Amino acid sequence: MRFLRLAAQAILPVASVASAGFQRPFSQSALNGWDSYDEGLFTPFGNLELLSENQFTTLSHPAFPKHSVRIKKSSFCDGTAQSYTGYIDIQARHIFFYFFESRNDPDTDDVIFWTNGGPGCSSSLGLFMELGPCRITNNGTVVSHPESWNSNSNIFFVDQPIGVGFSYADYGETVGTTEDAAKDMAAFAFIFFEHFSKFKGRPFHMAGESYGGRYIPVFAAEVYDQNARLVEAGLTPLNLTSIMIGNGITDFYHQASSVFDMQCTPASVPPIMDIASCVQMKQIIPRCQKWLKESCLDVFDSINCRAAMDFCDEQLGTPFGSTGYNPYDISRKCEGDIAETLCYPITRVIGSYLDQPDVRTLLGVDPSLTANFSSCSNEVGTAFDQNLDEYRSTQNFVAALLERGIRVLIYVGTYDWICNWVGNERWTLAMEWSGQSEFAQQKLKPWGAKDGSSPIGLSRSAKGLTFVTVEGAGHMVPYDKPKEALELVQRWLSEKEF
Ligand SMILES: *[C@@H]1O[C@H](CO)[C@@H](O)[C@H](O)[C@H]1NC(C)=O
Ligand SMILES: *[C@@H]1O[C@H](CO)[C@@H](O)[C@H](O)[C@H]1NC(C)=O
Ligand SMILES: *[C@@H]1O[C@H](CO)[C@@H](O)[C@H](O)[C@H]1NC(C)=O
Repeated sequence: MRFLRLAAQAILPVASVASAGFQRPFSQSALNGWDSYDEGLFTPFGNLELLSENQFTTLSHPAFPKHSVRIKKSSFCDGTAQSYTGYIDIQARHIFFYFFESRNDPDTDDVIFWTNGGPGCSSSLGLFMELGPCRITNNGTVVSHPESWNSNSNIFFVDQPIGVGFSYADYGETVGTTEDAAKDMAAFAFIFFEHFSKFKGRPFHMAGESYGGRYIPVFAAEVYDQNARLVEAGLTPLNLTSIMIGNGITDFYHQASSVFDMQCTPASVPPIMDIASCVQMKQIIPRCQKWLKESCLDVFDSINCRAAMDFCDEQLGTPFGSTGYNPYDISRKCEGDIAETLCYPITRVIGSYLDQPDVRTLLGVDPSLTANFSSCSNEVGTAFDQNLDEYRSTQNFVAALLERGIRVLIYVGTYDWICNWVGNERWTLAMEWSGQSEFAQQKLKPWGAKDGSSPIGLSRSAKGLTFVTVEGAGHMVPYDKPKEALELVQRWLSEKEF
């Protein structure tokens, strides 16, 4: 395993910030070089207003000869805030992003990084279905979305890792682990702030959904560690403030067994499965947990971990498949073919929108991308699966961030089966960190009730960690409950209590 990973890294062009040279501390003479940039040899592109609508402006930074940014103004979505699209080029890797300024005050509001999950799904789903300033309707028209998360923040949606959405690599390189993807994302975030200097020092939140539960803690850890190197080199660190995870797969171990609670107990909706199947599932759980613990957690044995996971999936996951319910929303049946539309036919409409030649031109999608848009890349998904990426412990990254003062929000729609609230509650309670006992002592309490209306969900907070449910939302909370989701993110950004 280790050997394979190292071999893969040797073949791929090095994409990390290491290639820019600040992995090692700078010598004093190098730092003198920095001063000279500050003396006016180079002015970062601070003013987004000046960008062209019709073509990319390419920005480079003398300190990072292997990195550049292609960016344009793109008038799409709704006109309530400035929007930009482009690529951050990291050597031969090109990462596509959409950037929306805040509808409120771009000059003071926080900055949010958003990624969808998969692994391999495009963040255009988050943009056009969930939390962006506009949504695509069933008939393919674009309408403004009043509860967009850019109501009070500047936000970018990133297609990552390379191979996803409109991101690409010149020589077809792929990324197959979260740790490798993290290097590109940390470089991406740094280059963004370095070029768009008006956002420098702004509170920065990294957010994601679903597989984002694995991505985001690892990405934020990379940004945190990169900050130390930036400071050493005399550069401005990113003001990493919090992470936000919606219906995440942060802990496969607790998630694997909690599907039982979802389909066989009234944890969410009344039980949907026959008693005989439920009894069988219940008997399997201890064996499944024992095997996973021994082969994936206590030690990582790739062959045994894979076998354990196949066994648990077969025994605990397959029965649900035969019910016809939507795994992302247990309160309803799957609409359409799950492999094609993820049970949400609107994903196909979004794909058709992004296939229109004029839309691609407007967004500045690289002309080398000629294939039809796919919401999720099978190639990327397969690569992550081959590396057993999902079965790595991500909890420890969350604990490490909390210990360093980074706030953590875990929010969960209660109707989601696949990354359900029961498993998420269990791992947040089981996580070992200095705030564990104080966090565990808190009772879940209702939040968000207004003028006698029922609460939005339940919450538990201590020492920078907040666990929150959104009642009646599925896997994609902002899709199902846009008002409640905006309330959630606004409270979080303003550091109000739940
Ligand atoms: C498309 O759908 C939107 C919202 O559902 C509606 O307002 C609009 O009139 C529809 N447009 C057409 C051309 O049917
Ligand atoms: C980071 O953001 C917080 C909140 O606005 C602010 O108080 C702090 O000074 C910022 N830190 C840096 C290094 O800019
Ligand atoms: C791309 O989509 C169009 C329209 O849906 C379809 O006709 C075409 O066959 C697709 N091309 C490929 C290569 O799948």
